[in-house]
Amino acid sequence: MKVLLFGGAGYIGTHVALAFLERNDTVGIFDNLSSGLRSNVDERCRFIEGDILNKDQVKAALSEGWDAVVHLAAFKAAGESMLKPFKYSENNITGSLNLITECVRAKVKNFILSSSAAVYGEPSYLPVDESHPTNPTNYYGYTKLCIEENLKWYSKLKDFNFVSLRYFNAAGYDGDGRMLGLEMNPANLIPVVMEVAAGLRPNLLVFGDDYDTPDGTGVRDYVHVTDLAKGHLLAADYLLKNHQNLIVNLGSESGLSVQQIIDTAREITGKGIDVQYVERRPGDPAKLIASSTKAKKELGWVAEHSSVESIIASTWKVYQANQKKSAMFK
Ligand code: UD1
Repeated sequence: MKVLLFGGAGYIGTHVALAFLERNDTVGIFDNLSSGLRSNVDERCRFIEGDILNKDQVKAALSEGWDAVVHLAAFKAAGESMLKPFKYSENNITGSLNLITECVRAKVKNFILSSSAAVYGEPSYLPVDESHPTNPTNYYGYTKLCIEENLKWYSKLKDFNFVSLRYFNAAGYDGDGRMLGLEMNPANLIPVVMEVAAGLRPNLLVFGDDYDTPDGTGVRDYVHVTDLAKGHLLAADYLLKNHQNLIVNLGSESGLSVQQIIDTAREITGKGIDVQYVERRPGDPAKLIASSTKAKKELGWVAEHSSVESIIASTWKVYQANQKKSAMFK
């Protein structure tokens, strides 16, 4: 299979590329390197530097003939999206519409969207399945929902199918240490905790300790990025075989609080990890836990690497490797 990953030089895209390469698929990566890293791109991939906001660049890349496209090119900081909505509407919505339109024109019929649990908003029941109402509480989540809605319309009107993968909280790194490029200026909990453990920032700000959860801190469903990557392979196979749309959750089906993440990180890293409890972050729901029954049924997908220990240990290994590398060059 020939698959082109838009935003493929980022944290999740790099892991997705590795999974396709492992089974000898042909992989292209299109990325503007705004947050992705050139050094993350495996040398077996065809690399195209470009921006989804530039239709000519998208058109040229798609003209090379691909069986499927994976769209991971998006800004993803839920908190930031509440403060800078234009940044998110331009890149995530306008950019995605460019890409979808050009895929239809280029007759690339199989589209996999990197979507998010943020489309659900504050859950009215747990675990959240795909029939749960979609009512995002942050603008980032709305951008993903808006893309899904457009994919539904395009597939009704054109010869075009999509799988939308609603990731819960992506975390962890490749267990074989093949991916060492760290995200720049991370805002997500686990990389921030790692930066504190590594001495790169003084403390972790915990956004709220008065939620209606067992220890008062926010609960999320953390899913290992290697598991997510596998979901993309299965989604591509599904599209090529069934020519049908599918929207599925990818989550571990277990909830961990911010406090549990801190405690496990202290154990694994052996570092104190200084913490300061502050106000809630706008747009953050209290608890999100996935039901992944549909992914299992339709794709045969199950989370295999998503224990909290595996997620934190694989991430810490990469931070340590980077610290050794930078010490060598000092
Ligand atoms: C959000 C989306 C998720 C998406 C992800 C992409 C929601 C509900 N979820 O995840 O679907 O894939 O963005 O980035 O919108 N926290 C702190 N201190 C920090 C950072 C985070 O206390 O410095 C807390 C948050 O309040 C939250 C938890 O840690 O309770 C996880 O936060 P984060 O890693 O930022 O991800 P979400 O916002 O849950």
